[in-house]
Amino acid sequence: MSQHFSSPPRLIMGADALETAAAELATLGTHALVVTDPGIVAAGIHATVTHVLGSALPTTTFADVVGNPDIATVRRADATRRASGADVIVAIGGGSSIDVAKSVAVLGANGGDIADYEGVDRFTNRPLPVLVVPTTVGSGSEVTKGAVIMNPETQVKMIIVSDLMFATIAVLDPRVVARLPGRIAATTGMDALTHAIEAYVAKGANPVTDALNLGAIEIIGKNLVAASRGDADALYNMLVASSMAGIGFHDAGLGAVHALANTLGAHFGVHHGTANALFLPYVIDFNIPAAPARFARIAAALGEDVAGLDDTQAALRASAAVHRLADETGVPRRLADVNVPADAIGELARDALTQADLPGNPREASLEDLIALYEKAI
Ligand SMILES: [Fe+2]
Repeated sequence: MSQHFSSPPRLIMGADALETAAAELATLGTHALVVTDPGIVAAGIHATVTHVLGSALPTTTFADVVGNPDIATVRRADATRRASGADVIVAIGGGSSIDVAKSVAVLGANGGDIADYEGVDRFTNRPLPVLVVPTTVGSGSEVTKGAVIMNPETQVKMIIVSDLMFATIAVLDPRVVARLPGRIAATTGMDALTHAIEAYVAKGANPVTDALNLGAIEIIGKNLVAASRGDADALYNMLVASSMAGIGFHDAGLGAVHALANTLGAHFGVHHGTANALFLPYVIDFNIPAAPARFARIAAALGEDVAGLDDTQAALRASAAVHRLADETGVPRRLADVNVPADAIGELARDALTQADLPGNPREASLEDLIALYEKAI
């Protein structure tokens, strides 16, 4: 079967990345709509970023993005764009702001309502240019080619996907993540680690995604704990690794960790990275028989000494390393820690079995397998 790798947006990284991006922004349009959320404004990050980007062109800010953004949020942001005359979109934030920004860019070039474009390749005109400034170190949304928008009428999360929906530029600037709270660095960082590990062993993995994911695993293994303790260099390294994993997973696919975690998020509102961290080591052990050599390489990338071990022995060091990272970063380890009762496991497992990420898992997982994996985290 053929394999795929879609080219991601251009990355501008490192010291003065924002200043470099500002010069480029001026070539993309004449007025920017900045899409962000109240937390980013309160933390002063919006001011830091717009102080630099605003030197290049006039900006208008829409700061009303909420978690799990819906159609109404996109409509209000689009109305703000039309009123301002903005012809380029800037996202500052995590996945929610980035998804709203991408959606507004689609409407700016195609008109209509975002619900018209649910699905794959449903619009024809190239969206307005989008410049993305990610503010967490996990989702990878800055480099993926779609958006997820809630439709309250149908209670369905609409997915809008197209190769045309890559952002134009993603800006990875150390200043933006330098004061990220340790708890958020830990949980979003565990999301990035899960992306890289799941994609490295997923059915859609290929040599291009392998290089990105293994590289991301190595950087995360060296920096996650320090990032969770506020080390600014480690936070920037995590930001870069999270984009690498984002590029690495969107064609390779994910697996059972995300199937278990997304279900926990939908039923109990558990933070996405936190939910991934609960299951990652147990799913690694479950998957080892399907790809022992790959998990042995993951163990080595996480810094484990695997000299003299056979593949399966070395592979077990991968889950040991993840247990250690989870303990040292202080993320919740048990379902009870996130207020999920053990008697919910049957229903959770039935829903997880239908999750879109599950078929990418290297080892087929039955309902009984998923129940057993949830039970590991009791
Ligand atoms: Fe994720």
